[in-house]
Amino acid sequence: MSIISFRKTDFLPSSNTDAVPGARRIVIAVDGPAASGKGTLAKRLADRLGYAYLDTGALYRAVAMATLEIGGDPAQWTDVEPAINIIKRNLTPELLSNPLLRTPEVSEGASKVAALPQVRQALLEYQRAFAVNPPGYVGGAVLDGRDIGSVVCPDADIKFFITASVDERARRRFIELQQGFETTSFETVLEDIKRRDQRDQTRSIAPTLAADDAYILDTTGLTPAETLEEAIGVIRAQFLAETAETAGTAGSSSGGGSGGAAATKAEKMAV
Ligand code: DC
Repeated sequence: MSIISFRKTDFLPSSNTDAVPGARRIVIAVDGPAASGKGTLAKRLADRLGYAYLDTGALYRAVAMATLEIGGDPAQWTDVEPAINIIKRNLTPELLSNPLLRTPEVSEGASKVAALPQVRQALLEYQRAFAVNPPGYVGGAVLDGRDIGSVVCPDADIKFFITASVDERARRRFIELQQGFETTSFETVLEDIKRRDQRDQTRSIAPTLAADDAYILDTTGLTPAETLEEAIGVIRAQFLAETAETAGTAGSSSGGGSGGAAATKAEKMAV
């Protein structure tokens, strides 16, 4: 299936004029290294909360796949630039969930295009617009990636940084590839992940690092359901703390009364 054949749909952030006046959407950032479980968690959080979900890694993967399709080198901006233009015109949910984006070749290419500052800049505006005005008039957005909490949405309401041991991450990716009928050995997957970790963590622009205010969640030994419950617990605790803080501030200045607004935030999220 060729990327160029994808149809344009309405998978675009709502325009500002669509936004409900005064309604600020909740933004949840989920960052972490390859196969850490961040995508699974982010998707489940979005489902649970009824929010829009954006897999930002898939954006880099789509750019890499389009570059390879037109015979370009993912490490060269002059080859990648035309691919970005194709992707921007053809961005659809189908494109971002295409299993062909998960092949080892595209994974390697994605790590290379993601190291180009021009590519990061070109994708930044789309990601920010998605977070502020998610499609579908929903109450919030969950974005997963490497630099969501640090660069794309530094003001996100909640930030998670998801980790797992490198062996556990390689095991998960190996199983995923086998289910997709890719034939590769565990050792190759492990080496690929280590190489991509090294490139993603040491690149000069937006390296994979936990934001200072991120909650670090190690998913080694946790099932996806346990990871989700842990994350929901963090969200609930953070909003309860905000509620207490707001109530305390209001109590000392005006005798109380505004704590209800923060409580509504937690209630609105139904966590
Ligand atoms: O999360 P993933 O494995 O699908 O990401 C693919 C590549 O894109 C990976 O090498 C890291 C890069 N990436 C990034 O640099 N910034 C993001 N926000 C998301 C992904």
